[in-house]
Amino acid sequence: TPSRLIDTFGRSVDYVRLSVTDRCDFRCVYCMAEDMTFAPKSEVLNLEELHSIAKAMTDMGVRKIRLTGGEPLIRPNIMSLIERLGALEGLDELALTTNGSQLQRLAPALKSAGVKRINISLDSLSPRKFRHLTRHGNLDQVIAGIDAAVATGFDGIKLNAVILKGRNEDEVLDLVAFARERDIDIAFIEEMPLGRIVEHDRELTLCSSDEIRQQIEAHYALTSLGDPTGTEGPARYYQLGDSPSRVGFISPHSNNFCHLCNRVRVTVEGRLLLCLGNEYSVDLREVLRADHYKADHLKRAIVDAMALKPEKHHFDNAGEPQILRFMNVTGG
Ligand code: GTP
Ligand code: 5AD
Ligand code: SF4
Repeated sequence: TPSRLIDTFGRSVDYVRLSVTDRCDFRCVYCMAEDMTFAPKSEVLNLEELHSIAKAMTDMGVRKIRLTGGEPLIRPNIMSLIERLGALEGLDELALTTNGSQLQRLAPALKSAGVKRINISLDSLSPRKFRHLTRHGNLDQVIAGIDAAVATGFDGIKLNAVILKGRNEDEVLDLVAFARERDIDIAFIEEMPLGRIVEHDRELTLCSSDEIRQQIEAHYALTSLGDPTGTEGPARYYQLGDSPSRVGFISPHSNNFCHLCNRVRVTVEGRLLLCLGNEYSVDLREVLRADHYKADHLKRAIVDAMALKPEKHHFDNAGEPQILRFMNVTGG
């Protein structure tokens, strides 16, 4: 098997995002429906299977793994997997995307296990609006989690904010100030139409990265950091004034970034998904659970899957979503 994964457009895949659970203690309005059915346990990859995939990937040149969900930190025994991944040879960067609800308790253990970077969702600093947007989230708990991560000290901490017109559009500057006070980064994300939600009309609430950037630039100088140099991939980053914080924009609608794509995803049910905005995938769970399974079979399946990676996504917010899978299945 090859030592690098390259797709048919010449893009090198060195980054895998593993969704370790589709469950979450929040129900963010842009991510989930109020009533969700989750995958039965038998269909979810077990921790051993997740480790096998991570090992096969790093053997073939993957340098970065990000754990996502759902909320990764509510998966039972997740720390045992994180400790094993932290010890994987060849892995430069173990990262985590979380809603922050468990961070106050777990931040030090995550650092000891080898987690280098943490991304934390934060859409509002108003307790009432935060509750509306997350449906079940508690703002104080998340802020305590963010502060615990800051106190623990990671190589990178980034906040993620999905901005919706008429909801939290007026909080952009407060969120930037919150990040700046803590010397951490913040990214603003255009909402993507994954899964059928009924809470709001995605076409009407879409707030473009340009509008957000203009709001920020009225108060701070933003200096473009140019094309990504690391594993940032799709986001565009700016230095915020003279602070160490960076401001990022993830703009699937207004600025297609797919030519820079360096990543694949593994869904909670073990489908290797080649693009967030398409359904091209290969079932790795089937390979892992076959009789006479050998590690080579998994590697072969992963290599073959590269041929299926499409050139780009094409999101359309109007009408029915083309992708019926909800964000929590793929972890964004
Ligand atoms: P890095 O690992 O530093 O690149 O972090 P990230 O910002 O990509 O990861 P995070 O888990 O914080 O995701 C933030 C947002 O970026 C989520 O809404 C993701 O869905 C979105 N995102 C990440 N990668 C892609 C991608 O390849 N395509 C699209 N359309 N969105 C992406
Ligand atoms: N569009 C854009 N971002 C989303 N996220 C969840 N659902 C969506 C969506 N439909 C974001 C969360 C989290 C990140 C991993 O993905 O806010 O920060
Ligand atoms: Fe949970 Fe994250 Fe989805 Fe919110 S966006 S419901 S925190 S998985």
